[in-house]
Amino acid sequence: MSLGLKKRAQTQAPPAAVVPQHVAIVMDGNGRWATRRLLPRVAGHKQGVDSLRRCVKACVDRGVAALSVFAFSSENWNRPADEVSGLMDLLVGALAREVPRLAADGVQVHFIGERSGLSARIAEGIAQAEAATRSNQRLVLNICFNYGGRWDMAQAAAKVVAQGLPLTELNLDRAMALAHVPDPDLVIRTGGEQRLSNFLLWQSAYSELFFSDKLWPEFDEAALDEALAAFARRERRFGQTSAQRADAAAPLAEPAALNPASA
Ligand code: FPP
Repeated sequence: MSLGLKKRAQTQAPPAAVVPQHVAIVMDGNGRWATRRLLPRVAGHKQGVDSLRRCVKACVDRGVAALSVFAFSSENWNRPADEVSGLMDLLVGALAREVPRLAADGVQVHFIGERSGLSARIAEGIAQAEAATRSNQRLVLNICFNYGGRWDMAQAAAKVVAQGLPLTELNLDRAMALAHVPDPDLVIRTGGEQRLSNFLLWQSAYSELFFSDKLWPEFDEAALDEALAAFARRERRFGQTSAQRADAAAPLAEPAALNPASA
């Protein structure tokens, strides 16, 4: 019995060559997890922090180079005041507690989103987390906070215009908030809904999408491995044909305009 389980786990693990470089996650379902247990919604978010810690470690162990997570959207400010303040308290506490562990695990933390208007304690927590992990190299963790995909495109366009540059794909791409990492190979959404909800709209153009019915607090290593295994089975064509992709002489992975190396 235990042998059988071990074997299944081994065959589910995707080969290293097809481990996505960049995984992005919409961590949905915290509220429902709590409500089903007659707990306040914030209890679900607290459990969500534990799930995120587990997921970061699992990504480090599996060789994922970048993980981007949707922690708080530009629209989440419209939630009930007690849930918003609970989430802010949770963030400040989690940063104080988790940053030393993240630093020890080689994780480089970035906050992605609109920073103006954040309270001083949040801004300080963010700045400290980024400074304390700046030189780490094993995994880039992008925490999308006060973030929206449309906000990102608008701020990138404003930046390009302010620089006096033409609004080309390449200039916009370089001005996006996630310009320090390649586009996500795999976007996972937990919680059963099948939509992007304003997450990484620009960057997910060619991402593989994986939807899990598990609520975020229940998304464990096995669930991550299921998503990675599904990714490993996908054929990514980037606008080419299957035959072209099978041909090793057709290496085009992204438009030449966005890939200076091939220009
Ligand atoms: C969506 O679930 C989740 C969020 C809006 C917050 C995600 C936050 C964490 C995982 C914790 C780490 C982040 C911070 C800011 C401390 P939902 O509440 O929409 O769930 P529901 O769809 O079941 O209502």
